[in-house]
Amino acid sequence: MKSFLLNLIPGDGIGVDVINEGVRVLNAIAEKHGGLKFEYNTLPWSCAWYLEHGRMMPEDGVTILRDCDSILLGAVGFPGVPDHVSLRDLLLPIRTGFDQYVNMRPIKLLPGLVSPLKNDDIDFVVIRENSEGEYCGKGKTAGDMALQESIFTRKGTERIIRYACEYAKNNGKTKVLSATKSNALNHSMVFWDSIFDAVRAEYPELESSQMHIDALAGFFIMHPERLEVVVASNLFGDILTDLGSAMLGSIGISPSGNINPEGKYPSMFEPIHGSAPDIAGKGIANPVGTFWAIAMMLEQLNEKSSADLLMESVCSVLKASIDTTPDIGGKGTTAGMSDAVIKEILK
Ligand code: NAD
Ligand code: IPM
Ligand code: MN
Repeated sequence: MKSFLLNLIPGDGIGVDVINEGVRVLNAIAEKHGGLKFEYNTLPWSCAWYLEHGRMMPEDGVTILRDCDSILLGAVGFPGVPDHVSLRDLLLPIRTGFDQYVNMRPIKLLPGLVSPLKNDDIDFVVIRENSEGEYCGKGKTAGDMALQESIFTRKGTERIIRYACEYAKNNGKTKVLSATKSNALNHSMVFWDSIFDAVRAEYPELESSQMHIDALAGFFIMHPERLEVVVASNLFGDILTDLGSAMLGSIGISPSGNINPEGKYPSMFEPIHGSAPDIAGKGIANPVGTFWAIAMMLEQLNEKSSADLLMESVCSVLKASIDTTPDIGGKGTTAGMSDAVIKEILK
């Protein structure tokens, strides 16, 4: 019997709902497999925990998380705790503490999904830098002025661009597109572009190009079929992927793998969406982003057939369009949609 220990951080709002359903789905996968077991260690860290303890997680939270096969996170952040505090004290320290410098975000119109675009040829990945850049947290507020710094290191920039090129090469892709804004960001993005130029020269077999982020946002809508691998800084990748998921019909669809490629530390998987306070407690959050994140996790744990089974089951439910949640036009609930996926898994 193969056993995996998963650290779960359901977090806040709909994060709790989708992780609950994620666990039910994982248990169904284990049951179907017969030789697979998941053990869960659930951490209560959240905004509610903050209000009790004055912090989002214990001081040694990252150390507590380390001893596991993978981490699953729902979403953190809720009214009552400023967003910059909830994220600064939990999500970002995990991403940087475990050197999860790759944030892999597939944008693919799964069978059964309906895009709001007049285009159903959408299948690309955004590879987001996840450890520095605009998210370095440095700067100051002084009187009538705020200064927000970005840090782009050669090491950090080079490794994410190289990862994107390697990903393309190893996954049958032919194109890598770099998101820039070097017309306005005259230090950080000029530096990013120079490193992109140096790295892409090592991959003559790839068609590499760059586009300013504003033009690229338009290109996402106009020509998603021309995208294969997009590499972007931390902030640009964040913004592009909510856009990308919306192109699949809902922000509740896309997953996010925070990867430490060297495997020195655990990776963390989560849906790209947040805690959605506007629908929290209503039981209608779309669980697909979480299920897809779990499939990415299973693949990383070398359980490819279980990952495939999960995605096939999700697609069957989407195609049948029964029990789907309201964000994608259905009348179902989070639990009902999960029941349908579980039924497919156990078929
Ligand atoms: P959000 O993603 O929570 O919500 C944006 C919109 O999308 C809302 O209308 C919401 O109802 C809808 N939505 C999101 N996920 C959905 C789902 N699964 N099914 C159906 N509809 C869904 O973004 P926000 O409102 O900007 O942020 C809310 C809170 O979440 C903030 O505190 C923010 O900082 C936090 N946040 C956390 C994470 C994370 O933990 N990884 C990610 C994004 C935002
Ligand atoms: C995401 C979220 C986070 C990010 C926020 C909550 C800090 O939007 O995971 O996409 O910007 O990385
Ligand atoms: Mn985001």
